[in-house]
Amino acid sequence: MKPEVVVVGSANLDLVVDVATIPVAGETIHGGDLQRIPGGKGANQAVAAARLGRRVAMVGRVGDDEAGTMLRAAIASAGVDVTELLTTESTASGVALIAVAADGENSIVVSPGANNRLSPADVESAAGALQSAKVTLLQLEVPVEAVTAAVRCATGVVLLTPAPAPRVPLDEDLLSSIDVIVPNQSELATMTGQAQLAASGEVNAEVAVELARVIPAAAAVVTLGSEGAMVVTPDDACHVRAPQVASLDTTAAGDAFCGALADAFVDGADLVAATQWAVKVGAVSTMRYGAQPSLPSRADVENLLTN
Ligand code: RIB
Repeated sequence: MKPEVVVVGSANLDLVVDVATIPVAGETIHGGDLQRIPGGKGANQAVAAARLGRRVAMVGRVGDDEAGTMLRAAIASAGVDVTELLTTESTASGVALIAVAADGENSIVVSPGANNRLSPADVESAAGALQSAKVTLLQLEVPVEAVTAAVRCATGVVLLTPAPAPRVPLDEDLLSSIDVIVPNQSELATMTGQAQLAASGEVNAEVAVELARVIPAAAAVVTLGSEGAMVVTPDDACHVRAPQVASLDTTAAGDAFCGALADAFVDGADLVAATQWAVKVGAVSTMRYGAQPSLPSRADVENLLTN
């Protein structure tokens, strides 16, 4: 069966340690026991959309190590088609070193490993899936050339999460081919040099016009953590508030959010309605620990938000 959503992106083994607070530069601290959890922004977004009931295929690369076997199994067990999740020989899988603080915030360092080997040719070999999918989800944990190839092949709605934030400006042609860009506040600040654009409470048409000028995607949804998200089109902006929940771990909340946007777009939802659904799914994902284990089903969202 043809996928409704295709994700071109990374798969990482998350090595997670709980800490009281995120260490500052030069500081050594004790943390809790090491946990090994399947993650990676691409894989998380694929699993997020699949848990919400979508037919999803993932295009990416893992290494020929034990982590690669574990990551492939985790993604497949969520129901994602992993035919185009390729294996790179003699290469380590992607790994993310994650510290999770007591308040649920985190810091992440990614060693890309096999993710860096994803080529435009790999993506082009999945062109059939990209052409039939209603939604394509992209991030920046794989080479930008692979992301560009995906944009060329995709015919449905294309979403880009610009994470990790690009250190050099992304190509304008690439950005203007994106239907919806989904940065968080720090990614937006890196991309625009204007952190104040995303501050909640400053939601107005002036912000929208300025954002559209510096990021030439058709629309932007700026995620604001527990404050929800700001939906920005070239001439307007609106703030969508998130439900308040007891947050345990924010890892992959942005990925849950993007998976939910894709889920809503498959049904033809508009940007605001899709964001109203995504803030709920993102919030619920923070109530559980880890990346992929935290991603909710539709029933989880209903149950956890009503209890
Ligand atoms: O967005 C969360 C993800 O970022 C983690 O799972 C980690 O692997 C990094 O890619």
